[in-house]
Amino acid sequence: MTAEGPAQSRAPATTQALSQKRSAPPVPPHLAKFLSLADFERAAAKHLPKMLHGYLAGGVETDWSLEDNRRAFAEWGFIPRCLVDARSRHTRVSLFGKEYSAPFGIPPMGSSALMAYRGDLVLTQAARAKNIPMIMSASSLIKLEEIAKANPDAWYQAYLPGEPSRIEPLVDRVIAAGFKTFVLTVDVQVSSNRENNIRNGYTIPLKPTFKLFWQGATHPQWAFGTWFRTLKNHGMPYFENMDAGRGPPILSRELERAFGARDGLSWPHLELIRKRFPGKLLIKGVLHPDDVVRAKEIGVDGFMVSNHGGRQLDGAVSGLRMLPEIVKVAGGLPVIYDGGIRRGTDVMKAYALGAAFVFVGRPMLSAAVVRGQPGVERAIDLLQEEVHRDLALIGANAMDQLGPEFLVKVR
Ligand SMILES: Cc1cc2nc3c(=O)[nH]c(=O)nc-3n(C[C@H](O)[C@H](O)[C@H](O)COP(=O)(O)O)c2cc1C
Repeated sequence: MTAEGPAQSRAPATTQALSQKRSAPPVPPHLAKFLSLADFERAAAKHLPKMLHGYLAGGVETDWSLEDNRRAFAEWGFIPRCLVDARSRHTRVSLFGKEYSAPFGIPPMGSSALMAYRGDLVLTQAARAKNIPMIMSASSLIKLEEIAKANPDAWYQAYLPGEPSRIEPLVDRVIAAGFKTFVLTVDVQVSSNRENNIRNGYTIPLKPTFKLFWQGATHPQWAFGTWFRTLKNHGMPYFENMDAGRGPPILSRELERAFGARDGLSWPHLELIRKRFPGKLLIKGVLHPDDVVRAKEIGVDGFMVSNHGGRQLDGAVSGLRMLPEIVKVAGGLPVIYDGGIRRGTDVMKAYALGAAFVFVGRPMLSAAVVRGQPGVERAIDLLQEEVHRDLALIGANAMDQLGPEFLVKVR
């Protein structure tokens, strides 16, 4: 299948010039030790204060959903085809009329700039340099206008309360900034119960406690490389992009209140956004096929099947399990998957189950934490190289040649 649906198939692989064979990009010495996405995640665990690493890597309550994202991949094995001429293979995928160089992107991750210096900018610039999509979060700490300038192809992700008086001006601001793709996250009706954060001392708003001070003092690379550097160069971080105007600072007690009535967000609000936003509109966090049917009737342009990286409702299944059923009812609209992708083989399994595109979260932010933009670019290269190699090994030349016939349930 293709990202645009069945009508718009990409050029057959056989017509691709053999000259499009990839050669591995040169790796600077300070990045050479990172050989897989897991290497970045391990390094970020050392670099960050425990409370921030817990926020980045953790799930919710028992971590059932976080673990299900990995379990769901482990339940599938490949049945590769042999003797396929794979010299014309490539990793390009088209989505919403744009051809990306790799079959994956970077999803929205709030508070990135608290973990990596200028985190949102770093992620979006790396995505632009490598020609993959990046979604900026409503909970980000750098103004959306600045992100749009750095990467005119970036997408915007909203967290919205069920209040038209806040929805309309926010949508207008996003349009004015030039965003052409709007993602409404629909699985954050309330803040989830992330006990690990509370145990580690990570609270929103951040409280200037002894624990925070001590964790900063024992992680000087983060303290000086991110926190004090941010304060010195840009001042106290604010939630810049939840509304039409600037939100509260990260230390503010007003923060919970600023979230508003997110539990009141419902279908009429999606209709309202659809009427107001002229570009591509997606919903993120959908798991039930009936919701896909309803959103399709309202006129959304695509779906992000996701359990929010196992960070919201504990027990919510991995979106991978729902992918085939959702693709069936999506009527050719792109169905995008995220959650637990750590290897090229995971990307391939998601595509074989019907994904039109996938997003990879924690490892990309981890790369930004430890090596900034060059680190994220290295992480993108590594994953892209894995997919490129795996295509040959499975016997295919392009992502749209993958289908369920390449998979077997092993558990
Ligand atoms: C630190 C962090 C912050 C996140 N913030 C947001 C957010 O602001 N909005 C959102 O829709 N999803 C958010 N997510 C979820 C991601 O967009 C994505 O669904 C998830 O990370 C995918 O799983 P993965 O990290 O296993 O790849 C966040 C995830 C992480 C790890």
